[in-house]
Amino acid sequence: MAQYDNKTIIITGAAKGQGRAAAIAFAKEGANVVAFDLAQKLCYPAYNNTCKNDMECLKAEIAAFGGKVLLTFGDVRKADEVKVAVDAAYDTFGSVDILFNNAGICAYGLVHELPEQEWDTMMDINCKGAFLFCKYAVPYMQRQKKGVIINNSSIAGLRGMNRLCHYAASKWAMVGLTKSLAIELAPHNIRVLSIHPTGVNTPMNDGLAAMEGATPQEIAERSAGNLLPVPWIEAEDVVNALLYLCSDNARYVTGSQFVLDAGLLTR
Ligand SMILES: NC(=O)c1ccc[n+]([C@@H]2O[C@H](COP(=O)([O-])OP(=O)(O)OC[C@H]3O[C@@H](n4cnc5c(N)ncnc54)[C@H](O)[C@@H]3O)[C@@H](O)[C@H]2O)c1
Repeated sequence: MAQYDNKTIIITGAAKGQGRAAAIAFAKEGANVVAFDLAQKLCYPAYNNTCKNDMECLKAEIAAFGGKVLLTFGDVRKADEVKVAVDAAYDTFGSVDILFNNAGICAYGLVHELPEQEWDTMMDINCKGAFLFCKYAVPYMQRQKKGVIINNSSIAGLRGMNRLCHYAASKWAMVGLTKSLAIELAPHNIRVLSIHPTGVNTPMNDGLAAMEGATPQEIAERSAGNLLPVPWIEAEDVVNALLYLCSDNARYVTGSQFVLDAGLLTR
């Protein structure tokens, strides 16, 4: 029996990057994967050009090894689209066991130049989206008397970041959401955690580099430098942490911030 047989995981931002890697890994471990993504180009930030085909490719890759996946489409900022996806997860697979709030964007900007709209978009996608998924997934978890919620924050949720005030604010907000929900949901046996990766080798990093006219390595190094001699970590490193954190091996881990920073926050 695989580790996640009969468990249903909802993954937001599943078309690319860490979400995609998580979808494949959990499906390989037997989970029913509900992959949620906008799968459309965003006006802001300009690098995000995810399309429906990215989701179809994910489905084909999971189907090729006999995994189970349900594709759901929507914007994490839209309550009705989030509710439809969460209900579809339950209706299709009969449970909602794990929620990985992962969809997110990043872009640079100085505070005095930052259009108000860009601040709002950052906060809405990176933080309100997680709130909405929790809002609709938690009642299912409460009925099951069990669940795990993982919020993908960043090292930017534990420190300041130059030209990233809106990104860092949204990622610190994920910590407040995580800790408060951990308190609220512990009596229901629902664990809530945030994860805090350093730069990850994903299309987000490539997109930021393209927008800045820099290389992905230069973008990664701007984060102030990992202690270990790597410019970034891989999505698979994040996934390995998730496979542990979502399992019963981490049954008493809740409310905390799991750091995957290659030592960056040490100095
Ligand atoms: N890449 C990094 O260096 C890094 C480091 C630390 C934390 N993070 C965080 O990890 C998460 C995943 O990042 P990634 O690197 O995989 O990014 P990515 O850009 O490679 O993938 C993000 C996915 O989220 C989707 N998405 C964006 N806005 C959406 C919306 N409104 N509704 C639904 N889906 C939406 C995109 O379509 C895309 O498929 C983000 O929250 C990010 O802030 C990234």
